[in-house]
Amino acid sequence: MQEKAVLDHVVAPRPAGEEPSVAADPRHVAIIMDGNGRWATQRSLPRTEGHRHGVDAVRRLVRAAIEQGTEYLTVFSFSSENWRRPKAEITYLFSLLRRFIRQDVAELHSAGVRIRVIGERDRLDDDIVEMIEECEKITALNNRLNLVVAFNYGGRTEIARTARAIAEKVARGEMSTEEIDEACFAAHMYVPDVPEPDMLIRTSGEKRISNYLLWQMAYTELVFVDEHWPDFDAEIYKRAIAEFSHRQRRYGGCVNAAALA
Ligand code: IPE
Ligand code: IPE
Ligand code: MG
Repeated sequence: MQEKAVLDHVVAPRPAGEEPSVAADPRHVAIIMDGNGRWATQRSLPRTEGHRHGVDAVRRLVRAAIEQGTEYLTVFSFSSENWRRPKAEITYLFSLLRRFIRQDVAELHSAGVRIRVIGERDRLDDDIVEMIEECEKITALNNRLNLVVAFNYGGRTEIARTARAIAEKVARGEMSTEEIDEACFAAHMYVPDVPEPDMLIRTSGEKRISNYLLWQMAYTELVFVDEHWPDFDAEIYKRAIAEFSHRQRRYGGCVNAAALA
């Protein structure tokens, strides 16, 4: 079904005389919020100050996304590899998540934002897990903007746990190996109803994926911006969308496939 929708996009006929099709506004934007530490170091501040200002940038991002009509946002807040950082920095990042949920969820809820958290929860403190479950429950029926927070998230872990979940079903006799295909895999990921990201924005000039949404980003358009995350604002968001709008998404096909057929 999903594959067919993708191909429809490639071969969709366009009215005579129009320029080759360019990407419409992105429905789903994924973000790697990078550069908090460098932002702080450049100002002779401790790295934690960069993270603190980074939360304000998340608030600006959510407002910009709502204004631009983005349906889904997935933000990378803490990766499965970020455990390699100093203990004090990790503790601070966890306290920021607690504070964000406490201070912002009510406002996000009244703005119609649905919040979900993806990532492994077994290493998280019980109170954080409870807060996450609570805010997912409170906002479950909202549909203005879907905010997915990747926390203790790793793309390889997501793929491996999906394989395990499917293998367990096969072992229990609930499905056969013949049924394992791309659609089955996609259906067992953390948030199967969320469409694949149309665009990824990574701040701070780094040009890598860092184990983010590996399965989902097969055909995502990558946009790298030089600003550090604490400086992120609506202008940068609009600029990224403008860059995206000039991209031609071909999904392995070719421009004007219908006319060439
Ligand atoms: C992103 O900023 C925030 C997290 C990874 C939690 P960094 O902390 O990675 O900042 P830099 O890359 O060291 O500047
Ligand atoms: C990716 O940034 C993770 C988050 C933004 C949460 P990192 O700063 O951890 O990535 P690397 O280490 O530069 O690849
Ligand atoms: Mg970084």
